[in-house]
Amino acid sequence: MVETVETAPFEGQRPGTSGLRKKTPVFQQPHYVANFVQSIFDCLEGYEGATLVVGGDGRFFNREAIQTVVKIALANGFGRVLIGQGGILSTPATSNVIRQYGAFGGIILSASHNPGGPHGDFGIKYNVANGGPAPEKVTEAVFARTKEISSYRILKAPDFDLDALGTTRLGEQTIEIIDPVADYAALMRKLFDFERIRALFKSGFRLKFDAMSAVTGPYASRIFEDMLGAQAGSVLNATPLPDFGGRHPDPNLVHAKHLLDLAMSPDGPDLCAASDGDGDRNLVIGRGRFVTPSDSLAIIAANAHLAPGYASGVKGIARSMPTSRAADKVAEKIGVALYETPTGWKFFGNLLDAGMATICGEESAGAGSDHVREKDGLWAVLMWLNILAARGEGVDAVVTKHWAEHGRNYYARHDYEEVEAAGADELMQTLRDALPGLKGETFGALRIAGADDFAYHDPVDGSDSARQGIRVHFEDDGRIVYRLSGTGTAGATLRVYIERYEPDPARQQMTTQEALADLARLSQELAGIARFTGRKAPSVVT
Ligand code: G1P
Ligand code: ZN
Repeated sequence: MVETVETAPFEGQRPGTSGLRKKTPVFQQPHYVANFVQSIFDCLEGYEGATLVVGGDGRFFNREAIQTVVKIALANGFGRVLIGQGGILSTPATSNVIRQYGAFGGIILSASHNPGGPHGDFGIKYNVANGGPAPEKVTEAVFARTKEISSYRILKAPDFDLDALGTTRLGEQTIEIIDPVADYAALMRKLFDFERIRALFKSGFRLKFDAMSAVTGPYASRIFEDMLGAQAGSVLNATPLPDFGGRHPDPNLVHAKHLLDLAMSPDGPDLCAASDGDGDRNLVIGRGRFVTPSDSLAIIAANAHLAPGYASGVKGIARSMPTSRAADKVAEKIGVALYETPTGWKFFGNLLDAGMATICGEESAGAGSDHVREKDGLWAVLMWLNILAARGEGVDAVVTKHWAEHGRNYYARHDYEEVEAAGADELMQTLRDALPGLKGETFGALRIAGADDFAYHDPVDGSDSARQGIRVHFEDDGRIVYRLSGTGTAGATLRVYIERYEPDPARQQMTTQEALADLARLSQELAGIARFTGRKAPSVVT
């Protein structure tokens, strides 16, 4: 039976870079999830009888939220709801299921790499029929709707069993609990040379993949250990836990430091890797060699043809604006277009749909391709395995040869987390106002070649996105970028991206800190970071 429930708007239900993200208790308020989900459906048309995919990263409150989403979807007339068993479905796997089953869209319950649990974060994201995140015009319409909503429709029914595989019928409607791994694993098998990777493991290659007690555990165990024959125990923390074992499921050098230490030890594994809460990010560290996500994107693009799914070459490469320009050198060399987009995966969707780009990536540990419409952590690890197997070389050799050929882009991101929002806004505005006078300014050996506020014109749908980050270019091809995070749940986070290009192989073995010291100092001075935020140093450097 469908019930109409009276409700009142909640403030601040505005989706950010990647869906609506708040502290878990905010989502636990009565009607909060229902309001947002009904607002999404209110902005869509033509889904009567259609399929909706629902899944999440297994974090605290995942199961409860899924029940609400499913009951609202059925009450609003969706014909079929596909749910990952146990409420588990990684973000890239959701994207694949949406595409493979011709679904109308999907709802992903996740706050990605943010910590989970009763005091952690929660999130809801809507993906459209191409499998990618809803474009800005949809998310803006949803936000507008959340401000007006006065009622939602919900099925009055006992909770559904999320654990037993199979189909439940409710009159004309069906709910199907599907294996979250099977379709995704089949897709990976099509893209990569599993025979060759299996031979690599057979020859003694050692992998440590940390699933961080989040969604990728079941995927990684099945693919790496069962299908590819990696040593038992190659996958760490393989069981998804509601609080991620109390850890922060962010595969960076802070939260996955143990992997870095392992990879840097003399007898470390050949490859250490990890993924985040919902499985779309990746971390790749070879023995003795950390690979920055920006370098990883460039190296993947340069070597993708070694994987069967990309044997005919890449059509174009896309990267988010703050991502280093290492990929640009590859695009130039292989003679394909390079697209520079605003931060957030949603901007890649059109380029992928139009066949203009094959490989995409972001500095924030995201890489992927046209196989789905999300970034994909396990895909990136499999791509690296395929490249290493095909080249018969280790990570360090692949990386240093890449630099020798294309030059090295030293790169770091400095985050000033949870600063006061007003100060952060003022900092950005002051920089923006100073833009016209920056060109030609000299700081020691550094001279500014130009500066602007990045704006993107989508070549496919013609839409424009302004104020996407401030770029300061230097004459020696260095760059500093400033932008505010769109995914934070408390205060503001200022992100500063620092980059320097080094073509000379003799100077490519400095530490990043050494290579970027001058630019890093200048990044603070130029924007008055201490003055506006009270911070003398970044909270996280990645
Ligand atoms: C961050 C990353 C961005 C990524 C997003 C979602 O967004 O910087 O590249 O797409 O998370 O994973 P931000 O907090 O910077 O807005
Ligand atoms: Zn994520």
